[in-house]
Order: sequence, then structure tokens, then C-alpha cells
Amino acid sequence: MHERVVITGGAGFIGSAVGAHLLGLGKEVWVIDDLSFGLRELAPVPDARFLRIDIRDRAKVQEAIARIAPSTVLHLAAIHFIPYCNAHPVEAADININGTINVLDACAAAGTVKQVFVASTAAVYPVADGPLNEEHATGPMDIYGITKLAAERIAGEFCLRTGITTIVGRFFNAFGPNETNPHLMPEVQRQVREGQRTLRLGNLDPKRDFIHTSDMARAMEALLGAGISGYEVFNIGRGIEYSVREIVEAFERQLGEPLRIEVDPARVRKVERMHLLADVSKLKRATAWEPQWGIDEGVADLLREPLLEWKDARS
Ligand SMILES: NC(=O)c1ccc[n+]([C@@H]2O[C@H](COP(=O)([O-])OP(=O)(O)OC[C@H]3O[C@@H](n4cnc5c(N)ncnc54)[C@H](O)[C@@H]3O)[C@@H](O)[C@H]2O)c1
Repeated sequence: MHERVVITGGAGFIGSAVGAHLLGLGKEVWVIDDLSFGLRELAPVPDARFLRIDIRDRAKVQEAIARIAPSTVLHLAAIHFIPYCNAHPVEAADININGTINVLDACAAAGTVKQVFVASTAAVYPVADGPLNEEHATGPMDIYGITKLAAERIAGEFCLRTGITTIVGRFFNAFGPNETNPHLMPEVQRQVREGQRTLRLGNLDPKRDFIHTSDMARAMEALLGAGISGYEVFNIGRGIEYSVREIVEAFERQLGEPLRIEVDPARVRKVERMHLLADVSKLKRATAWEPQWGIDEGVADLLREPLLEWKDARS
């Protein structure tokens, strides 16, 4: 029998990548997504396996997961664009915290679920200069990070209460095709693809650990197959950080043309950490995972990929 997997947020940027990867491995994939930020065409499943449900609707989530009876649930549905979360803190808390409670309680009630993966974020860490490992104290700096840290704690309590294996992945900065939020990479991709050679960007110096969504998908699958029991937290990053300038240089190399940068004051974030770098040794010890995508290959691919229309909700 096929392994049956539910992905909440499976119509989003990372959820669609992990869905396609698991389908390719022969799993039976179901998606729960309200399409608030995701796109139906990104979810790689037939209509019968796509459930348009808002995870804040506790009864519908319970009914859906009981009916599907999956053995594995990946919970990725969340709102995570930091400026949006800052502007809509109650909505962010409702979806990222209460929605997580609803999904996990539904997993507990279904009686079939053996493993749960919960997407968290590097935003749960405080400002730090060097690589961060999972033992590092948490200290989120924004509403988004606070809601995701709460979701991690709820996942820990869920594991204690149910005994169901619960893996938390702290995602660093994802990049790849089909990005649904106007983060740095798709912004540069959009401006370059529109023919601009003077880019208007925000802060240029912050460094981030960029990991390709296809490497993230393989990391999630590797963790779910690693025989983990209990509650475990893993960083999912690449272990290399790049500044905004270095990302623009990667685009220059692939284009074979120089790019100028103009700082757009409207895009400069008032509160910004200068570094966010993953120590991924725990992930590598637990699995045979190694990243396969470098920045240059990823950027070359982005220059070939179609651009998504971003939804207005993100502004
Ligand atoms: N993109 C990154 O760099 C990054 C970094 C760290 C963590 N994360 C986490 O990874 C996960 C996936 O992020 P993503 O980048 O794919 O974002 P995304 O916005 O593309 O995907 C999230 C999906 O959840 C859905 N969703 C939102 N609210 C919902 C609700 N109330 N009910 C049902 N579905 C809902 C959206 O429609 C969307 O398809 C999130 O949990 C996010 O916090 C992402």
C-alpha cells in the first residue's frame, strides 16, 4: 500500500516542492490549503486530493484528516512574510498558533498518524554572528518568529501527550521556483526579467543562509525516513551565508552583464539582523542528506523559470 501523506500549505512555495518530491517517490499525497497565499496549480495533486480548508476551521480540519487517515502529516500552512505578519499580528497568531493546534489535535484524533513534521523557522533564534545550532537559546525578534516558537512548543506538548513522532524543521531562507512571497530572490528575479539593470532593493549587507526548495524537500523526506522517535528539532539550511550584494553578483554571473543597485528607502527594514546562518551538523548526522543546489545553479534556473503573479494579500 502507498504511504498516505497530508501536506498542509501544499499549494505554497515549499509545500509544493516537497509534495512533488514525495509524489515522485510513489507516496499518496493530499493537500490542505486555503489558497490565501498559495496557488492551486502549484499543488501537484488531483482535485480529489486537494482540500481547500482554512486550518483555523477546527471541525473541518478534524473531519478531513480523519477521513484521509494518513500515516504522515507535514504541517507547513502558515503566514510568514514578516512585513505582513507585523501588520496583521492577530491573524498571524491565529493561523500560526491556533491553526497548528487544530492540525495537531486532528492528527491525534485520527488514530492513523505515526509521524508529524512541523515547519518552523530560523526566525526563532536571536541575533547572533556565527552559525546557530539547535541548542542555541531561542529569542525571536518579530511577531512571526514568536508565533512559530509557540508552534514549536505546541508540537513538543503534542508529542508528549500522544507519543507520535514529531519533527520540527527550522527552515532558513528558501529559494527556488514558484516563490509566493516578494522576498529578495524573486524580487531580483522579477526586476532582472523585466529588463532592469539598476535594481531597487532594501538593506544590502544582511547575510542569509539560502537553501534551495528541492534540497529542503529532500531534507524533510530524509528526516521522515530516519527512524526518529519522540520530539526532535533540526535546522534546515545550507550552512553558507550570502549578502544581498553577493546574491546580485550571482545574477550578474549568470546574466553575463553588470547590475547596479540603488537602495530604495521604502524597502529598507527598520529592524534587520545582519546574519542568519545554520549549523546543519545535526541534520547531516541524522541522515545522509547533503545539499545539491548551489547559488549559481539556483539563480541560473530562476532566470529560466516563469514568474508567479504575487497575490495582493502580501502587500
Ligand atoms: N520561505 C521561507 O524562506 C521560509 C523560511 C522559514 C520558514 N518557512 C515556513 O515554511 C512554511 C512554508 O512557507 P512557504 O515559503 O512555502 O510559504 P507560502 O506562503 O508559499 O506557503 C504557505 C501556504 O499555507 C497556506 N495557508 C496560509 N494560511 C492558511 C490557512 N489559514 N489555512 C490553510 N492554508 C493556509 C497558503 O495559502 C500557502 O499555500 C511556513 O510554515 C513558513 O513559516 C518558510
